[in-house]
Amino acid sequence: MKALIASGGRGTRLRPITHTRNKHLIPIANKPILHYAIEAAAEAGITSVGIVINADSDEVPHAIGDGSRWGIRITYIPQLTPGGLAQVVALAEPFIGKDKFIFYLGDNMVVGGVRRFIDEFEKSDSNCFLTLARVRDPERFGVPEIRDGRIVAVEEKPKNPKSSFAVAGIYLYDHHIFEAVKAIAPSGRGELEISDAHQYLIEKGYRVGYTEITGWWKDTGKPTDLLEANRLVLDNITPSNEGTVDERSTIAGKVVIQKGARITNSVVRGPAIIGEECVIEDSYIGPFSSIGSHTVVRKSEVEYSIILRECKILDVGIRLEGSILGNDVEIVEASGKPLVHRFMIGDQSRVEVV
Ligand code: DAU
Repeated sequence: MKALIASGGRGTRLRPITHTRNKHLIPIANKPILHYAIEAAAEAGITSVGIVINADSDEVPHAIGDGSRWGIRITYIPQLTPGGLAQVVALAEPFIGKDKFIFYLGDNMVVGGVRRFIDEFEKSDSNCFLTLARVRDPERFGVPEIRDGRIVAVEEKPKNPKSSFAVAGIYLYDHHIFEAVKAIAPSGRGELEISDAHQYLIEKGYRVGYTEITGWWKDTGKPTDLLEANRLVLDNITPSNEGTVDERSTIAGKVVIQKGARITNSVVRGPAIIGEECVIEDSYIGPFSSIGSHTVVRKSEVEYSIILRECKILDVGIRLEGSILGNDVEIVEASGKPLVHRFMIGDQSRVEVV
């Protein structure tokens, strides 16, 4: 069993954060999203992992490395332009060969790992095994039509979904998927759709099985999804403290304080993570906050937010909530006259004021 992970695409729905960073490297609980997919594969005992990357950037290989830190071997497979998920699979054929494999979309997150899906796939004797999750907005996803416990059709982003399931971005295949991805034509949006490959397999009489994901699963396509994924991961963290907390501070609930972080005269209410070498001073950090390393929060309040590295949040009179800040962002008290809100904001940013 091998693993194939997709980490290409343009991440347009996550701009401006993705202007300067591949979306799979955005941290959730201070760890790149992509780590979760790699860890899931490694935990399932897979040692050979292919990662499809944008051919014009070495950002992912640079950040992830050769896999040795997880005890696995990573092969990078470049994709010239994001031509769709079926193209991603087609590109991986030389790497996969005749092996069975799990195809994991690098922007998906699932709790509890993937071992159970692999076991069910092996037992089911399917050629293709899909994982389904109940969602409120199936029209955003690939959607199966199920009759008498069997998938009879799969449609990509349908206007009139035939079920309330999304096909999650964790798929299991044998080599017949390569026949399918080579047979289909690009969709209306110009992509080779993985759903069309699934539909092909169904029509050709191949066995397409499925299982339902009963725990949480998240596609981190939109900013609100990132915050939600961050909440779900933080909910499951194990508290630890490698920093320093002075006697005037209160740490309540599950809080991870990473190496060298200093918390003085502050309240941190978990679940939350405070990154390496952060300084939290006279401040409140509320539940579901991830504070990236080397960030300074002084006389300010942050809750339900993802703050990346080296930010400065200083003397801000209102609580930041539901916010995502990139690296090296400053939010500081206005000084001088006139007393106004003063913004210096890059392309496609969003600020909400009261
Ligand atoms: O998350 C589950 C959904 O993922 C499925 O229900 C859909 O059937 C499937 O098409 C896919 O839909 P998305 O619209 O979410 O796909 P997206 O374009 O966001 O790409 C998913 C991942 O694959 C993401 O990590 C980026 C990567 N990717 C995408 C494309 C199109 C590539 O590496 N190369 C590509 O060409």
